[in-house]
Amino acid sequence: MSNPVVSEAAQIRVTRAALEKVIRDAGVIGMNYFKNLKNVEVNKKAARDFVTEADVAIEAFLKETLTREYPEYGFWGEESGQSADQTSRWVVDPIDGTHSFSKGQYCWSISVALEIDGDIVIGAVYAPVLNDLYIAEKGKGAFKNGERIAVSDETNLGDAMVATGFACLRNYLTDNNLERFCRIAQQTTGQRRFGSAALDLCLVADGQVDAFWEQELNLYDVAAGALIAQEAGGTLTDFKGNPGLFPKQILATNGKIFDQILPLM
Ligand code: IPD
Ligand code: CA
Ligand code: CA
Repeated sequence: MSNPVVSEAAQIRVTRAALEKVIRDAGVIGMNYFKNLKNVEVNKKAARDFVTEADVAIEAFLKETLTREYPEYGFWGEESGQSADQTSRWVVDPIDGTHSFSKGQYCWSISVALEIDGDIVIGAVYAPVLNDLYIAEKGKGAFKNGERIAVSDETNLGDAMVATGFACLRNYLTDNNLERFCRIAQQTTGQRRFGSAALDLCLVADGQVDAFWEQELNLYDVAAGALIAQEAGGTLTDFKGNPGLFPKQILATNGKIFDQILPLM
């Protein structure tokens, strides 16, 4: 059993084991819907933005469980919004990759992070179909299925595999990432669009992908995955190279190709 996370700023009492259990329990709910997709209602929140009854059910479970177990924290979920207290809060995406989920694809995940006074102190991303659970506590490393993980050793952008997403298309932005994607694609060996930003960040942490970038995400998409990538030795910046967590412009790398990819952003 891991030690409770004790941050300098606040005494908190969340353990890795407890967070792993609650996100796995949420995964069971998700898989029950996933195995019965023909009867799962899919709705449109907006053009190019879907929500299913599975998203709602998973979030309801996480909200009820986390606010009962940890009444000292607020809750911000993608589907139910923000509770009163937002200085210390759970930040939850019940299904990251809803479109993939609704099509019966494997690449979707559940993302749960705890933010205390603006600092992500613990986070987990669980991909139920893959049965891969990524977790990190601030300052204590990143883990996949209980094993310590680290970013890749790739030092040459030309040999790198990168991933991105197109949230910007949903918002009809003029900077739609397409030119950037083509520019970087011509300078790298592999390019992937998996469909779950939370999982993209964990793949950087696990060395499966050497860099990931995306614009126009939300904190709930990236809070847990960014901590996991950082604790695995990755860099987290915006597209100008400013260090930090910028959901609207997130660039995660293995650190070794950062100087090569930054000028292409
Ligand atoms: C989506 C995924 C996808 C990203 C989209 C997000 P959702 O999350 O993270 O990879 O490109 O922009 O909205 O909507 O399925 O929770
Ligand atoms: Ca999401
Ligand atoms: Ca979602």
